[in-house]
Amino acid sequence: MKRVAVLTSGGDAPGMNAAIRAVTRTAVFHGLEVFGVRNGFYGLLNGLIDPLGPRDVGGILQHGGTVLGSARCDEFHDEANRHAALADLERRGIDALVVIGGSGSQTGSAALKALGFPVIGIASTIDNDLCGSDVTLGVDTALNVAIDAIDKLRVTASSHNRASAVETMGRGCGYLALMAGIAGGAECVVIPEVETTPEEVVAIIRGSFERGKSHSIIVVAEGAPCNLDRLIAYCDEHEPGLATLRATRLGHIQRGGTPTSFDRILGSRFGHAAIECLRRGESGVLVGWIDGHVCTTPLEEIAGKPKQLDEETIRLTRVLAR
Ligand code: F6P
Repeated sequence: MKRVAVLTSGGDAPGMNAAIRAVTRTAVFHGLEVFGVRNGFYGLLNGLIDPLGPRDVGGILQHGGTVLGSARCDEFHDEANRHAALADLERRGIDALVVIGGSGSQTGSAALKALGFPVIGIASTIDNDLCGSDVTLGVDTALNVAIDAIDKLRVTASSHNRASAVETMGRGCGYLALMAGIAGGAECVVIPEVETTPEEVVAIIRGSFERGKSHSIIVVAEGAPCNLDRLIAYCDEHEPGLATLRATRLGHIQRGGTPTSFDRILGSRFGHAAIECLRRGESGVLVGWIDGHVCTTPLEEIAGKPKQLDEETIRLTRVLAR
């Protein structure tokens, strides 16, 4: 292997730049040439591929987002487009590809593997919905953004004896909401993995005040059936007495945070490991973090496979909300 390309795909995640930097610096350390693909798989399909050197990745470790740019690319689902992308890589003499991204991106990686191209995936999404990694790049930073917001909301809710509902990202996964609920001391966490009705949420809110609390914090995952919009609509229609309910949708600020030390180190470990895998002839795997170590999992074992949340952690939120 002499030339490797790297791209970032899907939702950006704090720590992606650390991974890009580590891929590049590790490859250069071993005398390889590196190429950066701009805007994810779109760039792969449209030849947005330029040399990447050690100086190009200087001063990026501490910044969120991705210097390569990212995108969602439906065109890459087309087999003919995938073949065209591989033909272009071959024409450029590029021997391998590192894909930094979440579940959708790694489905693309698995498809390239199926066509026989050496590819390494790096587990990167604030959703933490990827099997093959206990925690994915960006989750720690997104979680800290969420709990900073929850801490602020608790201050103002307590001043007015109010309930505050906070929506977190996570697509169909409740991990971010669950952990933000625990770290933020929420009275209630609503996640896709646990069926919850608006009536149940209102009962928890009322119980909080009846037990003498001056606030009630509800963290709602955006993918939960009882999401923020449904909860607000229910309270407007059935619970006018809960006019105290205020709603905050955190949205994309969870993605734009300055990467924490954990995500900087995780991104560095992942990027380094990706090149070391390729150097020893290992490809078609996802680089992830399992039981405190960098591990690899065959891409076909993770593509499209939902990650389960820990039942004990879910139970913890109910116990600690008393
Ligand atoms: O996958 C990461 C994520 O932030 C999800 O949590 C969220 O639902 C989605 O991306 C938002 O996608 P976009 O940035 O394309 O609006």
